[in-house]
Amino acid sequence: MSKFLKEHIEFYRQFRSHFQTTGAIAPSGRFLAKAIIKPMANRDEPARILEVGPGTGSFTKQIVKQLRPGDQFDLVELNDAFADMLNHLFETDPSFQQWSSQSKVHVCPIQEFESDEPYDYIISGLPMNNFSPEVVTEIYEAFERLLKPRGVLTYFEYMCVRPIRRVVSTPNERTRIREIDEVISNYLGRYRFRKNWVFANVPPAWVQHLQFTDA
Ligand SMILES: C[S@@+](CC[C@H](N)C(=O)[O-])C[C@H]1O[C@@H](n2cnc3c(N)ncnc32)[C@H](O)[C@@H]1O
Repeated sequence: MSKFLKEHIEFYRQFRSHFQTTGAIAPSGRFLAKAIIKPMANRDEPARILEVGPGTGSFTKQIVKQLRPGDQFDLVELNDAFADMLNHLFETDPSFQQWSSQSKVHVCPIQEFESDEPYDYIISGLPMNNFSPEVVTEIYEAFERLLKPRGVLTYFEYMCVRPIRRVVSTPNERTRIREIDEVISNYLGRYRFRKNWVFANVPPAWVQHLQFTDA
């Protein structure tokens, strides 16, 4: 069986057993991965890079292509099965192996992750629309705590999901979506400096770029 198929099957299995935190039925595509890693690919100096919610490694594969000597690459993944797959890649896949001494997979929720030093780049694949407003707030607080003042946070969200879910959901669900929309819009309004549209992904996605410095 091809690697591609294995990854998709495992991702779907995890979606079935951990629907809320997996948040998608399939890993992100190559075009989205390339758009999301752009800020770290355009740098001149060694950097500290944090990937949050790597899953089966769609973004990780593009990140390792951009790593250089002197970089530190940390990955924070909640799900043990995904963390095992990523560790296996760092042990066996030549494009990952060469960076294994500079990389570490941490198995915990990002809200509980501690680091001695903040990061230059955070790349997140978390399915924010599946969480409670309290968890979304905690996750943004973790991003602020973990990012350097001039560091860049990049994450994606599927296009128009919240507006659609606000119309078609039950009243309780509508309230939850409205509340997380308030948290997210507040952060985007204050800190977003760029937004990319990626239509070549299923479903199409926006890539949001933030810096936690008031304009
Ligand atoms: C939508 S999947 C994205 C996977 C991959 N980045 C991609 O785009 O294909 C979300 C990932 O976030 C992980 N996750 C969910 N909540 C998390 C949390 N609080 N901390 C760390 N990882 C989390 C899930 O286990 C899953 O791997």
